[in-house]
Amino acid sequence: MIKIAPSLLSADFGRLEQEIESVTAGGADLLHLDVMDGHFVPNITFGPFIVKAIRRLTALPLDCHLMIDDPLTYGPQFAEAGADIVTFHVEARADHGATFDAIEAAGARAGLVVNPDTSLMRVVPFLDRCAMVLVMSVFPGFAGQAFIPEVLDKVRTLRGEFGYTGDIEIDGGVSQSTARVCREAGANVLVAGSAIFREEDRAGVIRAIRED
Ligand code: DX5
Ligand code: ZN
Repeated sequence: MIKIAPSLLSADFGRLEQEIESVTAGGADLLHLDVMDGHFVPNITFGPFIVKAIRRLTALPLDCHLMIDDPLTYGPQFAEAGADIVTFHVEARADHGATFDAIEAAGARAGLVVNPDTSLMRVVPFLDRCAMVLVMSVFPGFAGQAFIPEVLDKVRTLRGEFGYTGDIEIDGGVSQSTARVCREAGANVLVAGSAIFREEDRAGVIRAIRED
């Protein structure tokens, strides 16, 4: 069962409600929310206040991807704002066990994110705690970058060698032309930002990423 998660980073925030409605009608399974703090990545997006507002606009599950230095302090705030799942980077210098505890205590599921140049072995000790593993297929910070196919080895290793049965999400440069290799490697949650929001036909592109 493949799930498609449009990344709102590429949506028109001045028309956010219509943008969310269009991808919902188009078959989106969850909404991917990219949180950046200007420290962990060289870009700033939005915080829990906006997540809370988005929560009121949709019944779709909210998938919060935290690209921030301090997920232990702020992760629970995104859970309280209405995120269903909160993922944080294994590269963040936080106490990972305590961060899982804090996010879960605040009512969300939790998972880890791994950058293209980070070894999967840093995630492995926490696999039994991960409701989802997010494998980055670009360096985080910006939408619209080119897909890095080498990261698919991490997806194959998770499914094969480690027998991981949770959700594996892939994020960055996913489009109609790169989705198939992601699905074949074993990813079951596909994030797409620019590929979806640049097209008028949201249903068509979501279907193509899911099946073509
Ligand atoms: C990158 C973000 C991605 C990004 C995806 O830092 O984590 O979610 O919005 O955008 P596209 O699909 O355009 O690469
Ligand atoms: Zn993301």
